Amino acid sequence: MTDKTHLVDHITGHRRMRRNRKADWTRRLVQESRLTVDDFIWPIFLSPGQGVVDPIPAMPGVSRMSIDRAVDAVKEAADLGIPAIAPFPDIEMDLRDPTGSHILADNLINQFTRAVKAAVPNIGIITDVALDPFTSHGHDGILREGIIVNDETVEQVVKAAVMQADSGADIIAPSEMMDGRIGAIRRGLDAAGHQDVGIMSYATKFSSGFYGPYREAINTGGLLKGDKNSYYISPANGMEAVRDAALDVEEGADMLMVKPGLPYLDICWRLKESFSLPTFAYQVSGEYTQIKAAAMNGWIDGERVMMETLLCFKRAGCDGILTYFAVEAARKLAKA
Ligand code: PBG
Repeated sequence: MTDKTHLVDHITGHRRMRRNRKADWTRRLVQESRLTVDDFIWPIFLSPGQGVVDPIPAMPGVSRMSIDRAVDAVKEAADLGIPAIAPFPDIEMDLRDPTGSHILADNLINQFTRAVKAAVPNIGIITDVALDPFTSHGHDGILREGIIVNDETVEQVVKAAVMQADSGADIIAPSEMMDGRIGAIRRGLDAAGHQDVGIMSYATKFSSGFYGPYREAINTGGLLKGDKNSYYISPANGMEAVRDAALDVEEGADMLMVKPGLPYLDICWRLKESFSLPTFAYQVSGEYTQIKAAAMNGWIDGERVMMETLLCFKRAGCDGILTYFAVEAARKLAKA
């Protein structure tokens, strides 16, 4: 037993895992998950005005864009083969109020959706119906006496969803976590003749510190009073997340989303195993930023970590990823 070679042989027997890893061709042959451009949904930030490309300090490489510039960027994304985009608006402060009423106007999202449909008809548009970009308090719903009121918020969200669909949105993605919203949106869309407009539920949206840079991007951070713990899921609760998703499936969700992404890969796996629906992860702003920040300091290889994290979502059962890296990763895949 002092012979080291003999010791290794004895432990591993005829099982040597490294046989399948020994060359590039065999590694390619046994690869279980693959990342392609078809996996990406690109979230983009919209700003009012014309010709605006306004860098977001907390998200190096990401800018708020006015509709004209955003449409150009979407053309480029479509040329790279990115299947879909998800717009988020930075709404002018004087248009925000306690009930988020501007979500029911012909706002930035709806104008942008029409512009994209006219200029880039082959890319999918996935719109959020949460009220947070439109409220003066930064919450996702209507705030009355310190409480985010559920049913009144759902009514507003349904109307907003129908307007977004009227403007050409392909998929409605409600992120405000009110109870009963998926069924209500489905009925609302159907009643308005939008049977073909799908619903991607932010089924399991956790109350997370990783949303910080997003709140800077759409200027809600400074407004937010209190926290969102009365409607988002606690990071401690996986079972509750599955039960919440089960209701969304029953109510008619076509696709599910987990948000944030990387710290919640167990939830991605559980949802995929439980419901077999198309399942997506949102690699959120804080996840993007921490990779960028470490890379800018020379502490990690940013490109490598970007590609690794995106691939890991696939391994965890996701069908795709909402990621601010979409364009950068698509370019890299196109070169490879
Ligand atoms: C809210 C919403 C959030 C994000 C998108 N829509 C979270 C929040 O501010 O509470 C976060 C996206 C990101 O961090 O990239 N409806």
